[in-house]
Amino acid sequence: MKLIVCENYEEMSEKAAEIIKEQVVKKPDSVLGFATGSTPVGTYDKLAEMYKKGELDMSGVTSFNLDEYYPISNDSDQSYHCFMERQLFGRVNITKDKINMLSGEAEDPSEECERYEERIEEAGGIDLQILGIGRNGHIGFNEPDTDLEAKTHLTELSSDTIEANSRFFENVDLVPTHALTMGISTIFKSKKIILLANGRSKLNAVRELFSEHITTKSPATMLKLHSDVTIICDYEAYSEASIGIDIGGMSVKIGVVENLKIIDKRIIDVTSGMTEKDLIAAITSVCAEMRKRYKANRIGIGVPGIIDENGVTSANLPFKDCKLDEIMSRALGVTVKIENDANCAALGEQAAGAGKGMRNVLMVTLGTGIGGGIIIDGKIYSGKGNAGEIGHMRIMPDGKLCKCGKHGCWERYASVSALIEMMERAAAEHPDSILADAAKDSINGKTLFKAMDMGCDTAKHVFDEYIGYLAAGIDILVSVLDPELILIAGGISRENEKIIKPLSERIGGAVPIKVAELKSDAGIIGAALL
Ligand code: F6R
Repeated sequence: MKLIVCENYEEMSEKAAEIIKEQVVKKPDSVLGFATGSTPVGTYDKLAEMYKKGELDMSGVTSFNLDEYYPISNDSDQSYHCFMERQLFGRVNITKDKINMLSGEAEDPSEECERYEERIEEAGGIDLQILGIGRNGHIGFNEPDTDLEAKTHLTELSSDTIEANSRFFENVDLVPTHALTMGISTIFKSKKIILLANGRSKLNAVRELFSEHITTKSPATMLKLHSDVTIICDYEAYSEASIGIDIGGMSVKIGVVENLKIIDKRIIDVTSGMTEKDLIAAITSVCAEMRKRYKANRIGIGVPGIIDENGVTSANLPFKDCKLDEIMSRALGVTVKIENDANCAALGEQAAGAGKGMRNVLMVTLGTGIGGGIIIDGKIYSGKGNAGEIGHMRIMPDGKLCKCGKHGCWERYASVSALIEMMERAAAEHPDSILADAAKDSINGKTLFKAMDMGCDTAKHVFDEYIGYLAAGIDILVSVLDPELILIAGGISRENEKIIKPLSERIGGAVPIKVAELKSDAGIIGAALL
């Protein structure tokens, strides 16, 4: 099978129309097999345009349509007779008496099907058959679990097809339950076949086409045995790969994510002299390459800072009111979504990490400040745009001054920077303590745990005080959000049980608390899921 993956529906329709035109130019009396449904409408539009411009002459063409509902009045609006007249036959110069369609009004459906098979044979067989594909893998109306050797026949439509096609009817009860359709063996006799598929709903059916097996569960898989089949589809129907970008102050991590796994990853260093333009150009160029290679058509970005209607503004990056999503979307020709990086990390953990299987998760990232990501019912909760700034919850009225200008913000007490401040103060007050000794050379989160392991009471005091502050904020968040799970991320979370156990005890075991699992991959996966 040949595969042509197109950027979008428009390109898919153009490619298909070109192949049909080529066929008709090469053999003006070609026998063409047509399909109905939404998929070929764009192709028929292109053929009509070509005809209008004098580039295509279909006067010699004989046509056979794949199928028709049964029973249905041939002049009813929903019949495929009317559909074809509207979409193609009324817009090109195919001679009326060379148009063949199964009749929804036939008294004896078996006779009608036999007549149809004979007519196809008399016409010398179909030169080029155009197919769509049902989301359940049907071609024509050959539904899953039907006879793969059948000729044209009367068939019962599956509930999935009835549901999918109900969009053309006033309500689902009006969709005919049966249809007359060319059988797989009829389709198979066509000399050349093009199968068109667009949109995410066809992804599984197209995947089956490229799997190793042939199965009645997905009748289109039979086409693998045909010697001249071309699949023309758009990215949506072909690939689930998406690109997740996690922008940080030091580096930008770009990953291709498929089935919640990172299958390729690149890192761009953010250097001090980089301008907004430089950084966007570097990210865009990697994305363009990955997009091409993996047929990835969705891009999500996680970025630190404020995102509002003016764009992104990040303290540690050269972004000031930067419409990053719009710029990248224009450059790459795809929709680009943007979110706060902590929210993306929370989404990644909820979907693929420690929060898998949970719908309501709160992630707390402890670092220089405190970042938060709130996932409610499987989705990021961003409020008016910037929810999740949990580090700036005021837990202490008239408390320490925060860099945001407020007093008593949670991150002034429970971030790693706050912990270091507490350790420095304690070391100064207890110069003979193990902690003071351990802190002599350098001081970081680990110093405290090292001193505690050596039996230092001063360190234990600091830790208890710190856990108290951490629990105070978490307590508030649990009361407000009632999450199923709280995830702790950030360097300090490496201490795992040493933090999780006392923290859980402090909040009275109200909610399970775990350490996040995906580390720096969480942001990429979450961004890709946007
Ligand atoms: C229509 C036909 C069907 C459709 C399929 C996809 O003649 O034979 O197999 O091709 O149901 O329908 P759309 O294009 O509407 O998604």
